[in-house]
Amino acid sequence: MNDTWTPASWKQFPAAQQPNYADQAELQRAVEQLEKLPPLVTSWEIDHLKDQLAAAQLGKAWMLQGGDCAESFQQCQTEQIASKLKLLLQMSLVIVFASRKQIVRVGRIAGQYAKPRSSDTEVVGGVKLPCYRGDIVNGFEFNPESRRPDPLRLVRGYERSAATLNFIRALSEGGFADLHHPENWNLLFVNEVKGEVAKRYRELVSSLGSALRFMETILGGATVNELKRVDFFTSHEALLLPYESALTRASIRGVGYYNMGTHMPWIGERTRSLQGAHVEYFRGIKNPIGVKIGPSAQPDEVVDLAKHLNPDNEPGRLTLIHRMGRNQIESKLPPIIEAVRKAQCGVLWVCDPMHGNTIATQHGRKTRRFDDVVDELRLSFGIHHACGSSLGGAHLELTGDNVTECTGGSRKLTESDLDVAYETQVDPRLNYEQALEIAFEIAGKLQEFRVP
Ligand code: PEP
Ligand code: CO
Repeated sequence: MNDTWTPASWKQFPAAQQPNYADQAELQRAVEQLEKLPPLVTSWEIDHLKDQLAAAQLGKAWMLQGGDCAESFQQCQTEQIASKLKLLLQMSLVIVFASRKQIVRVGRIAGQYAKPRSSDTEVVGGVKLPCYRGDIVNGFEFNPESRRPDPLRLVRGYERSAATLNFIRALSEGGFADLHHPENWNLLFVNEVKGEVAKRYRELVSSLGSALRFMETILGGATVNELKRVDFFTSHEALLLPYESALTRASIRGVGYYNMGTHMPWIGERTRSLQGAHVEYFRGIKNPIGVKIGPSAQPDEVVDLAKHLNPDNEPGRLTLIHRMGRNQIESKLPPIIEAVRKAQCGVLWVCDPMHGNTIATQHGRKTRRFDDVVDELRLSFGIHHACGSSLGGAHLELTGDNVTECTGGSRKLTESDLDVAYETQVDPRLNYEQALEIAFEIAGKLQEFRVP
């Protein structure tokens, strides 16, 4: 790596999607507070995730990355966090059962507070105010005080991330995650879920119970301790560079700089310019990183990014998350896969079937059609296979809450059902049944493409 990199060298480059803080001294004070606070994750955990992603790159594991489009400070609550974890655990169980592959679980969680926006301002009833950029920047409520980018929110965001992560760690290590008791992962409303998907899941859990009892009987009655806990990692879009660089620390082992605010930061579709500040920041950190790749990406541009961000071609370092949209994936993805392969860049390919499929209803509500999401995912498997590559994971926006934000799915939600429980402030998320249905879909495809 070029030795001009420092955790602050991004400041010499144009940074897209940053808020306009009115008072730079106030921002500096918040950054100095963050710099003194302890890291949220360690370099060992980060390296451990990189090893698992390297296994996924080789086809030995599968990555499931999911969570809210944006977390909110108000939703940093027991049930909301536990539900997301429960749903991801249920999904990974469905996938592991069919694929016989290790699942790398990564949440869009404990720091997913900053959002890129298409415009700096929003006009409502003739009043123009700064746009909402996520709770770590300003408030959603449309009034001047709430919309003012407030640097103290950086510290509040760190604290919420720490509280969320603390709870996740406790749940992952303790009895909650024990595979012998998958009933712990039932969502509060799950008994009301009478549909086909929930039934399939219950059947799977019951056959899993028998398989475990059989295996442990053969082992002489011993309990398999490895099944009592899970690895669960965090990720977010590292958009707000003053925050990200304040949490970037040199490892005490002397092996370089890590973003210690999350295990796996990613670069969004709007900030992946090779000349921009985000790419400069990312090239110097040791974490495994993701880059979103949308339909405007050119094959040679993706190759340049891969070489710049992973010059040593280190396995597990770079995940390319394509989000082309159902209608564009067949034309846009193959040339990119081909170019990356020809350049011999090793990457983990992940499909985000959400962000290319966002549409507006007649009433201006953002939604996604479940069928578009499933189609894009299905097509991805086939395209990778045809290009001699393979899909190693999925990136999803979902919630364990019983929302109605995406149309379709087994309950066949229509546009008029969206009014029932539309809670997102940004992008529409899959609800419990829709997410579980996607997990069964992934499981089916992994079986279809399994190398014997
Ligand atoms: C997101 O993941 O919420 C997002 C904004 O995605 P993208 O950068 O792919 O548009
Ligand atoms: Co989103």
